[in-house]
Amino acid sequence: MSVTLNTKFAGQFIKQHELDYIAPSAESALALVRAKNGPGNDFLGWVDLPVNYDRDEFSRIKAAAERIKNMCDVLVVIGIGGSYLGARAVIEYIKSNNYNAVREGTPEIYFAGNSISSSALHDLLRMCEGKDICVNVVSKSGTTTEPAIAFRVFRELLINKYGEEESKKRIFATTDKARGTLKTFADRMGYETFVVPDDIGGRYSVLTAVGLLPIAAAGIDIDALMAGAAAAREKYLNAPFAENDALRYAACRNILYRHGKATEILVSYEPAAAMLAEWWKQLYGESEGKDGKGIYPSSVIFSTDLHSLGQFIQDGNRNLFETVIDIVTPKDSVKIPFDPEDTDGLNYIAGRELDDINHKAMLGTLLAHVDGGVPNLKIETPNRSESETGSLIYFFELACAVSGYMLGVNPFDQPGVESYKKNMFALLGKKGSEERGRELAERISKL
Ligand code: PA5
Repeated sequence: MSVTLNTKFAGQFIKQHELDYIAPSAESALALVRAKNGPGNDFLGWVDLPVNYDRDEFSRIKAAAERIKNMCDVLVVIGIGGSYLGARAVIEYIKSNNYNAVREGTPEIYFAGNSISSSALHDLLRMCEGKDICVNVVSKSGTTTEPAIAFRVFRELLINKYGEEESKKRIFATTDKARGTLKTFADRMGYETFVVPDDIGGRYSVLTAVGLLPIAAAGIDIDALMAGAAAAREKYLNAPFAENDALRYAACRNILYRHGKATEILVSYEPAAAMLAEWWKQLYGESEGKDGKGIYPSSVIFSTDLHSLGQFIQDGNRNLFETVIDIVTPKDSVKIPFDPEDTDGLNYIAGRELDDINHKAMLGTLLAHVDGGVPNLKIETPNRSESETGSLIYFFELACAVSGYMLGVNPFDQPGVESYKKNMFALLGKKGSEERGRELAERISKL
């Protein structure tokens, strides 16, 4: 079980002495995480979570997932940001980006409340027609507008479809353990509730009930997921710099940033990793992008995006680096058929595994992009099993915390997320924001 950082393709951009010089800073940052005495240390519950989680709640999650599987054709997971990305990332990465089409014996799973698009919600309501529905509403605060709107809509639908009492058995609320609008409401209604721990922020919450309930409902072995995360914790939380690939990843990112490489592109050759990249983007973007600093996290799926963004990466502004997730063993096998006429000229690869071709595309691209002046880090993971996925999640979480401390920011807050909300509430005329509403309306009228 392992996640390995391969720096062979970044060698000409990162000198050994740069790594030597930055190693103490990475080790100090890791010490802050371990001692829990750095900025944002109220939000370090994820560090020991893989070995220190609520076993009773974990059993309740499994039992609720079984009930959802038996009771529902569709599970609608309502949440935004850290309250949705992890679950969707893991389900698609382990199962398939076409999970709903290829699932066997588990419900369709759709995600709502992650936008304010009327079309998205309207389409989802149509997709649920004639099907038995369960809802998992996920919101730590319970007041986030996007999920609150979707929850109101689905609650009404469930009450109309099943009646007040039956609807309560179909709603599962994941929220604060004691406080907040959703907790109060869920207790009043008698919904089964699960906890977003106080000391774990949204973007670090995938291995709590936030992620685990939908993940278990998708038929994924959450024991193995947690075991993989525990193995990564064991491996990376205490190892010295030279033997610690999570620290080395954090260090390489910081060195490249100081060279002016202000954009990191997470690359995967596996479409099932697209949502994992979205989760990673929130993790790194929300943790590091503050105080005028930070590496902008971006992502691509190759070879798909080689036919769109490939030109820019090869030849455009040289302010970027790539981090390639190399999944060593594929989940599935497809062989290229032989065509006696060879009309398409592909017989030179007939009989070969498609994954072998994909790996050659990866190697060719790595070399081309390095030649084009783009440093490439490679993160190698053996496969997309539950345990390896758990390890990969923990690896990225730990490296992110270390990297944030090395950058000199608090990796666990997100003060900037409030700004759009204040303006939106003011423009909507929410009570208490009337004056700001008038100011904004005036500004808009002068544009
Ligand atoms: O990382 C975060 O804190 C955010 O992405 C939140 O998870 C997101 O805003 C949703 O918040 P809540 O769970 O309170 O609805």
